Amino acid sequence: MQDYKDVLAEILIDEKSLQKRIRELGAEISADYSGDTLLLICILRGGVPFMVDLSRHITVPHMMDFMAVSSYGAGKRESSGFARVTLDLQTDIRGKDVLLVEDIIDSGHTIASVLQMLETRQPNSLKVCALLDKEERREAVVPIHYRGFSIPNKFVFGYGLDLDEYYRNLPFVGVVDLEKYQPPS
Ligand code: IMP
Ligand code: MG
Repeated sequence: MQDYKDVLAEILIDEKSLQKRIRELGAEISADYSGDTLLLICILRGGVPFMVDLSRHITVPHMMDFMAVSSYGAGKRESSGFARVTLDLQTDIRGKDVLLVEDIIDSGHTIASVLQMLETRQPNSLKVCALLDKEERREAVVPIHYRGFSIPNKFVFGYGLDLDEYYRNLPFVGVVDLEKYQPPS
């Protein structure tokens, strides 16, 4: 795997800006759910750093659970429109206030499938919190109740987002220089 510094075109959102926005989102969520309890659902694997940091700024009592989905059909970086659950929740969400936490909404197909599936389990409420929104690429209509940043149509990595599974740990969101990047064989 190449050193990320050799494939980083630019830092799109630096650590300070990310953390500031996450504090704001946490405060907004805490106010909206004040007096209630909440279930945060992290969509693996990209949502992990975001959910962890966000939860530290949510002052209402909350639980956490995790699920994984994979979209099939299409190429690696294209969503086909259907997501298959590869790891389901441990929690029964019926009657609960649920907040889905995602790293990025691109075509919107992943989150649209997840929402559709979770609705059938009859939560009391079901909302979406996405750190990044690549609006230009949207194909499915999805509600985003809490949005960190709108970003341009560029391939990004870091802070949960991977470059062929690497570099999710970076504290910032960077743009990949696709001319320099060579995917591992
Ligand atoms: P969607 O179904 O097209 O909205 O796909 C969303 C998923 O694609 C995200 O959860 C990410 O895992 C992945 N994804 C979309 N854009 C990027 C990107 O720029 N970098 C890394 N992963 C991305
Ligand atoms: Mg993801």
